Amino acid sequence: MKLKKCLIPALAGCLVGFQTYAADESGQRLFLENCAECHQEDGMGIPNIYPALAGNELVQGSGVDVALVLIIGRGEMPSFSGAISNEDMASIINYVRNAFGNEGELISPETIEQLN
Ligand code: HEC
Repeated sequence: MKLKKCLIPALAGCLVGFQTYAADESGQRLFLENCAECHQEDGMGIPNIYPALAGNELVQGSGVDVALVLIIGRGEMPSFSGAISNEDMASIINYVRNAFGNEGELISPETIEQLN
């Protein structure tokens, strides 16, 4: 979706587009490996058991809030702190905040590092 930035004849915009795209690719793979078992491939979750991430207010609100859920864990959901790197956590968060029709700003591994 951010690739349309490449239509703007500015190298910087184009690079931002590619960076986002790369994050989406590994983010999707990591989501399928770590999260889809509960939240499902399409982010719709399972009603009354696993909340949908699609259209989710917390997910679209702030990347830091999503990072805190992953670091601390929540209810039945395990903590991912130490289980995945800050880079991978950022990729997953950026994926879920921009997949399934969601829209959110990107978060950096450095920001996640500070939360740990
Ligand atoms: C073992 C099942 C399971 C796995 C794996 C899992 N989750 Fe969850 N997740 C849950 C459950 C259950 C909740 C609701 C917890 C509660 O509120 O008590 C939840 C809540 C959340 C929330 C908060 C949603 C809200 O509306 O409050 C987010 C964000 C989230 N998960 C993202 C992820 C991501 C990203 C991954 C992969 C890194 C992941 N989850 C992996 C079960 C899981």
